[in-house]
Amino acid sequence: MEFPELIRRRYSVRAYAPAPVSEEALARILEAGRLAPTAANRQPFRIVVFDAAGRRQALGRVYARPWFLQAPVVLCVCGVPEEAWVRKDGRSHMDVDAAIVMDHLILAATDEGLGTCWIANFDMDAAREAFELRPGEVPLLLTPLGHAADRPAPRERRPLDSLVRRVR
Ligand SMILES: Cc1cc2nc3c(=O)[nH]c(=O)nc-3n(C[C@H](O)[C@H](O)[C@H](O)COP(=O)(O)O)c2cc1C
Repeated sequence: MEFPELIRRRYSVRAYAPAPVSEEALARILEAGRLAPTAANRQPFRIVVFDAAGRRQALGRVYARPWFLQAPVVLCVCGVPEEAWVRKDGRSHMDVDAAIVMDHLILAATDEGLGTCWIANFDMDAAREAFELRPGEVPLLLTPLGHAADRPAPRERRPLDSLVRRVR
């Protein structure tokens, strides 16, 4: 898929078919995450692949939306604060790094014909438990991963000239 088409194809999928995600596609998606750039190349992230079959109850405590429980796989991008690059004014770039990793995962999934949805509005404690996080790992972003069972809504975006300005 050409890049402009990939960008147009991605949307927040909020209905999933039960069909499984192939291991080959999953491996390519995870490799895209591994290759994401991070500040000072610290790679302060971990990706948890959660096979949802038989564990929907635990998932429901993480984010109680019916569509979230439909996907066969959920990906959780965690940050590791101790590994993150911190600017001299004290700002950690862990969240920025995690967002880039998630974007790589999501665009790679789109390229595989799979659906995703960025999720930040989840219960942190339930996520730590369900995804069996280790000490020092902070759950930052989730996405279901599966075959879309809906269609994209019309895209609402501000006009470019309200978002971009040039300094010459
Ligand atoms: C950082 C981030 C967090 C988000 N968190 C949620 C969420 O918790 N639940 C949800 O349904 N959508 C969430 N979204 C999806 C946005 O609502 C969605 O991307 C936006 O409305 C644009 O729609 P589109 O993704 O279909 O282009 C999130 C998106 C981003 C980038």
